[in-house]
Amino acid sequence: MQPVVHPRVVVGVTGATGAVYAVKLLERLRAAGRETHLVATPAAILNVHHELGLDRQALEARADVAYNPADVGAAIASGSFAVDAMVVVPCSMKSLAAIAHGLSDNLLTRAADVALKERKKLVLMVRETPFNLAHLRNMTAATEMGAIVFPPLPTFYHRPQTIAEMVEDSVERVLALLGIEGAAPKTWRGL
Ligand SMILES: Cc1cc2nc3c(=O)[nH]c(=O)nc-3n(C[C@H](O)[C@H](O)[C@H](O)COP(=O)(O)O)c2cc1C
Repeated sequence: MQPVVHPRVVVGVTGATGAVYAVKLLERLRAAGRETHLVATPAAILNVHHELGLDRQALEARADVAYNPADVGAAIASGSFAVDAMVVVPCSMKSLAAIAHGLSDNLLTRAADVALKERKKLVLMVRETPFNLAHLRNMTAATEMGAIVFPPLPTFYHRPQTIAEMVEDSVERVLALLGIEGAAPKTWRGL
């Protein structure tokens, strides 16, 4: 018998800088035929507007289903709602802290909590610099629970020419981590 495939991906967007990664990931997941479930915090919307000139509606238009972050009764708040994986992109240190400590204070952190308890893939595209000890400890705790900490850092050895190329590189690598067919991360083939 074929295993049941649930091609749903939860995309959590927080108020760290790097809103472009969220937009690009949503677009790529859509192109790959995945059903995206979006939850963006109020701080995320501030940054999406500041960095990209997009409003909440424009961000949500890139997802199949969008939730109010205060709606802790939504489908993705329950492990009985089958999803494949969750990506928090970009992931602020505040949301990382909540996730690392099982503090489900909004729908995004609850959905991440669910991903961890259901042993689903959880990718945290964390963004901060420099890190303090709390950030580092929270990344360790999240990793110990099975999350993948994936800071979207450029691979200069691929000699990217544009910001778009740098963004695409990280997004494709995350798609590959999720096992999305058609993911095209740049591959190092030796010097
Ligand atoms: C322009 C701007 C950029 C920010 N960049 C970061 C960042 O890169 N990393 C981070 O942890 N917080 C960053 N913050 C702060 C977060 O938005 C803030 O901690 C917020 O409370 C996070 O809430 P959330 O995780 O619920 O979205 C930034 C805030 C602003 C206004």
